[in-house]
Amino acid sequence: MTDEQILNELNKYTFYHRIKVKEGIYTRETENKHFSHRKLFRYLDDIDFKNKKVLDIGCRDGMFSFYIEKIGAKEVIGIDNNLSKGAVEFLIPHFNSKVKMYEKNLYELNESDFGKFDIILFFGVLYHLREPISAMKKLSDLLNENGLLLCETAITENIESKPVIYIPFNTGPYDDPTSCTFFNTQGLKETFKSLNFEILLIKKFIERKFSNIKKIIKNILWLIFKKNRLLKTDLVILNRVLFIVKKNQNKIDKTNDYWYRTHKKHQK
Ligand SMILES: C[S@@+](CC[C@H](N)C(=O)[O-])C[C@H]1O[C@@H](n2cnc3c(N)ncnc32)[C@H](O)[C@@H]1O
Repeated sequence: MTDEQILNELNKYTFYHRIKVKEGIYTRETENKHFSHRKLFRYLDDIDFKNKKVLDIGCRDGMFSFYIEKIGAKEVIGIDNNLSKGAVEFLIPHFNSKVKMYEKNLYELNESDFGKFDIILFFGVLYHLREPISAMKKLSDLLNENGLLLCETAITENIESKPVIYIPFNTGPYDDPTSCTFFNTQGLKETFKSLNFEILLIKKFIERKFSNIKKIIKNILWLIFKKNRLLKTDLVILNRVLFIVKKNQNKIDKTNDYWYRTHKKHQK
């Protein structure tokens, strides 16, 4: 394909991920705006994907799926409830990739669909979910014993002394009704523990929205004026976090297991 043909093909689609198609040609001109995905690659590089079966939840245009295929994964399945046509119709054939992508909602995903996985990527999805804990339990069910879950999400940092989930609908920090569930780090930590995950890594990233001085000043002014005007609106400090957790059913502490306790209660 000539460069012109590639550009014509790319112009048919809208891409969320900036993926290199060939030297000098990318799926979109600029990096996605509110979070630098590039920071996650270094954590992927630390994990051994060789011969692993991997699920990429909310795979979008496949930036992470293609990367883990490149670094050795045996099988990569991506699901998204809004499948990227550009990835399926153009990128997969163009890269001659074996990544498989399906339009699927994670709540409808079952072991009978694709079996279990060694590693699950769950990047940028948790804060879009209205039933986050059910989703996390589902991911635990889909993992093999000792399997890894890599969960990257937006978190709120207003209160750290208590485990919290902040659930705005139309008033969230991303001004977007689909961004509706923000744990704080403590809340996410305790939820993973309640599902018998062993926590291997917690890495916080500064949200881009707050990372340059102009934006910090803008946010402080917003805070002062909004607070003065309404006297009840607080600035929601928003950052991103990466959790790497391991499914560890051998170490189950049933007395601490939320699902065990609730199911037992219902069985009585
Ligand atoms: C913010 S994007 C993140 C894309 C990619 N994982 C990344 O980190 O760059 C969230 C993606 O998750 C998908 N998504 C949201 N809720 C979902 C659900 N319940 N099941 C499957 N995919 C979902 C959206 O369609 C979207 O493509």
